[in-house]
Amino acid sequence: MGKNWGFTTTAIHGGKLEDTHKSVAVPIYQTATYYYDTVEEGARLGQEIPPGFVYTRWANPTTRSLEERVALLEGAEDALATASGMGAVSCAVLAAVKPGDHAVAPSATYQATYQLFAEVLPSYGIETTLLPDTDAQSYERALRPNTRLLFIETPNNPVLGVTDIEKVTALARSHDALTIADNTWATPYNQRPIEKGVDVVVHSATKYLGGHHDVTAGVIAGSASFIMRAKRQVRILGTTPDPFGSWLVIRGLATLALRVERQNASAHRLAEFLAGHALVDRVYYPGLPSHPGHQVASRQMRGFGGMLSFEVRGGYEPSVRVFEALAIPRRATSLGGISTLVSHPAGISSVHMPKEIRQAAGISEALIRVSVGIEDADDLQDDFEQALRRA
Ligand SMILES: Cc1ncc(COP(=O)(O)O)c(C=O)c1O
Repeated sequence: MGKNWGFTTTAIHGGKLEDTHKSVAVPIYQTATYYYDTVEEGARLGQEIPPGFVYTRWANPTTRSLEERVALLEGAEDALATASGMGAVSCAVLAAVKPGDHAVAPSATYQATYQLFAEVLPSYGIETTLLPDTDAQSYERALRPNTRLLFIETPNNPVLGVTDIEKVTALARSHDALTIADNTWATPYNQRPIEKGVDVVVHSATKYLGGHHDVTAGVIAGSASFIMRAKRQVRILGTTPDPFGSWLVIRGLATLALRVERQNASAHRLAEFLAGHALVDRVYYPGLPSHPGHQVASRQMRGFGGMLSFEVRGGYEPSVRVFEALAIPRRATSLGGISTLVSHPAGISSVHMPKEIRQAAGISEALIRVSVGIEDADDLQDDFEQALRRA
């Protein structure tokens, strides 16, 4: 494969499976297992790193093709696909820490990641600190002698907090800790954390990588040795993707750059429109100079992404009226696909968090989160304008 290929050439041609029938599209190996003819061949396939395919929970050619492609796009040595984004987050985190270690993550992280750090890890004897914000100084203050993991999510869920990746990775290195970055919101098109010193990247491929709201999948990317450790978790815990799911993500990757460029542009435009609207109190979008993370985001991101949040003037009730009046976006959990989705964190997606923690993380009662799709930007703006008239 071409070493100097650009993003989309790599997304289309990188990690391609050489198929005996010369199929142009990556074939879907929809098989649970693979046969061998002799005991000797079976024994060879039973090794930790088999010289071929044995069983789909271990590895699958279609899934392998996806893994090679994502590794190239993230600039990682290797990658590992999982059945969901949480499969990737959980298996990567469990491969990074052991009982007695301490791990740090922001509290305004994705809700199930928050629960992993707040409930699951402590129940396995792993100490955790959930930070009130995404500042590198907060990570520094949380460090303990036994800190072994700094978990980053930037931009961050749902108020687009930005973490200075280079500062946090420098802290981790001086502390013998590992960094894992959830790059779901940014995508490797907008942000390449491994180039900034991060050890491991995780994705919910359900979002931008798949891009069409039709697949649940995840990916872990990092050094070959870390991927081997994570593979052990995935094989034991069983968070392996289905080959068809892997294929849908491969198909999505081909248009990732096209989609994300359009989403970057439309989200920026919508953010500017909302920021100038009399019935909007606040807009959270790292592309706006008023955003506290703007400078850091400008340094570490190629584009500011397709996610934004805003607060409707007047609080909970007016924000619910606007939320329910939107005609184009679907009110649905998830993000990163071709169609615009909206969520109401205080009313729906962040209700698992104690109210004080929610407020400290900046999740107000009036907040609406928008995942901007690839619809025509004029139509989106008109729709938000008509919905805001109901505030
Ligand atoms: C940033 C982030 N990480 C992880 C996940 C979990 O992904 P999945 O739903 O594919 O398990 C999500 C889901 O919304 C997310 O937004």
